[in-house]
Amino acid sequence: MADKLNVAIVGCGGISRYHLANILKTPTMRLAATVDVVETAARERAEEGGAEYHTTDLERVLSDGGVDAVIICSTHDTHAAISLEAIAAGKHVFVEKPPMMTIEEAWAVQKAVGESNVQFMGAWWFKHSPVTLRLRDVIKKPYFILFTVRIPPSQNRRNKAIFGPNAADGAHQVDDPQGPYGADGVFDNGGYALYWIWHVMRSQPVEIYAMGYGGKPTNTSTIVIRFDNGSVANSVFSDVGSGGIVPKYYGEVLGGSVSAATNRFRSLVFEGTDEPGFEEIYADGTGILKDPSGKPYRAGFDEEMEMFATLCLEGGTNPMDVWESSVPTFIFEKAIESMRERKPVSVDIRDACWTPDGELPESVATFGDGRE
Ligand SMILES: NC(=O)c1ccc[n+]([C@@H]2O[C@H](COP(=O)([O-])OP(=O)(O)OC[C@H]3O[C@@H](n4cnc5c(N)ncnc54)[C@H](O)[C@@H]3O)[C@@H](O)[C@H]2O)c1
Repeated sequence: MADKLNVAIVGCGGISRYHLANILKTPTMRLAATVDVVETAARERAEEGGAEYHTTDLERVLSDGGVDAVIICSTHDTHAAISLEAIAAGKHVFVEKPPMMTIEEAWAVQKAVGESNVQFMGAWWFKHSPVTLRLRDVIKKPYFILFTVRIPPSQNRRNKAIFGPNAADGAHQVDDPQGPYGADGVFDNGGYALYWIWHVMRSQPVEIYAMGYGGKPTNTSTIVIRFDNGSVANSVFSDVGSGGIVPKYYGEVLGGSVSAATNRFRSLVFEGTDEPGFEEIYADGTGILKDPSGKPYRAGFDEEMEMFATLCLEGGTNPMDVWESSVPTFIFEKAIESMRERKPVSVDIRDACWTPDGELPESVATFGDGRE
């Protein structure tokens, strides 16, 4: 067994910086190359990470026997196509969220992974957060989940590009030509919520209702999901204001006598039980996040590179396999269908998954809990 996984970063923008820091911290990983359609971006990340080379040509990396895996950090709507090329070239894939934009893309990637020997890991890191692990330990059967994602217009790159700096004031969001499919839109940025709701609910969705505008999908939205166990969830996404008090990510889980809330995955408060949650995790003077006991706070994001290296080098249960990674795409696509049809749509999670035998994959059947 090789002792190091040689990786290439594909897409050298904002998020690749954070993954690079974690690649460099992972003793079983080595940065071999970087790729970006913008040469300066690829060069900058290569220099920071001590890569052997940088390139604008994805093929160069895919045909390089010294590269075992790609870390795909390019723009959201390029992920499926780049994943398919990488899988065909026999490279393991770690791909930023969302891994695919449509269910057809999801099936194509699932089939390619299923017919190959490569490992594929998606990046819905909320799953690995200590807050999520603890919450699922204490509340096994939620009745209601609310998850809100609020992106201030000033942080939404697409809005600024289309509507100018005062995005939310200049034009109504229903005029956004890309709508929910755009960068920083409900799926690119709010897809987390769809994953998390499903994972925490531990029940399969059976009906989805989302309201668009005149039969046209809109970005700022509320997606209502009814689950097989009768429970319900609301995913609220806004890029037209942030409210001030409620943070970018806020989740509330009501489980009858016991309920819980998390503020940005930096705190966890329980009600109706003496079970301890997490006090606000704070930044100390050095800017290092620490949990209340003084240990460095690991969000779940920070662990992803190490998890991926272990998966590729040693095998074992995939922390976020291709089928589990596709669940938010399925829920999103059904929400879009509901907006277009102006009515709730019935859903069957089996439609989210391509498998050779037509069976529901274990990871999806167990809501991400993996194989026994
Ligand atoms: N996991 C997280 O917490 C998290 C946080 C932020 C962003 N993201 C995701 O990461 C992805 C990238 O986001 P970002 O903020 O870094 O965006 P960004 O715009 O800063 O960077 C994207 C980079 O990809 C490059 N690129 C575009 N198309 C390419 C292609 N076909 N081949 C190679 N390079 C290409 C661009 O030139 C750019 O340098 C998005 O899908 C986003 O949703 C994840």
